[in-house]
Amino acid sequence: MMARTLEPEVMDEPEQARAYANADFEEENQGFVDRFRDFFPEFTEGHVLDIGCGPADIPIRLVRAMPKCRVTGIDASGPMIEIGAEAVRKAGFSHRITLRCERFQSCELADRPDAVISNSLLHHVPNPLQFWYAAKKTAKPGAYVLVMDLLRPESAEEAQAIVDLYAAEEPAILRRDFYHSLLAAFTEDEVAAQLAELNLSRLLIDVPDDRHWIVGGRL
Ligand SMILES: C[S@@+](CC[C@H](N)C(=O)[O-])C[C@H]1O[C@@H](n2cnc3c(N)ncnc32)[C@H](O)[C@@H]1O
Repeated sequence: MMARTLEPEVMDEPEQARAYANADFEEENQGFVDRFRDFFPEFTEGHVLDIGCGPADIPIRLVRAMPKCRVTGIDASGPMIEIGAEAVRKAGFSHRITLRCERFQSCELADRPDAVISNSLLHHVPNPLQFWYAAKKTAKPGAYVLVMDLLRPESAEEAQAIVDLYAAEEPAILRRDFYHSLLAAFTEDEVAAQLAELNLSRLLIDVPDDRHWIVGGRL
């Protein structure tokens, strides 16, 4: 199994943030929101924290689907938060979505969230235990959790084959980021070990397809 190769933590190049925001993640992002609702049908209202919210497409889809929820999205990238704030304003959800430009490692919310979500963030993070620790300490005890990210392939060749299969038509900058993200991602066993280390035994990991893992449950 190939070792992890880190990529830059924060996506703060304006061009990179724009390319990411303009990419078509509709299926993936709507799929994430649908999965949240399938996992937790009893969760219909409350405060949701999106860690590494990027251009805020998931928060917008979530509040649209769940009219009694509000979202705080945090991202350490200024350009991402600017793009996200504009999208939130255009979608008419400024009263239900708050975006904050900050690292999750130093995030403190007076209004502790009832749920924590995060998509495609963990592979950016050098020390993943900081992420699980932040989720645990920021949210209410018993909060709902849904976290999804890429799965690291066995080899660089396999990573390239995944990029060629799923992103053949995407711009070069996105293909480059996708490839590096795959190399920086975690394996199922590594994520399971992270959860065990932080005693997050009520969170379960699943591998829904050839390139993602998903963790869901209650804190
Ligand atoms: C690949 S994007 C995913 C964005 C969004 N969750 C989505 O699914 O569209 C990962 C985001 O995490 C942000 N990020 C990375 N490290 C972070 C940190 N320590 N704290 C907050 N945000 C971070 C990056 O700036 C980037 O916008």
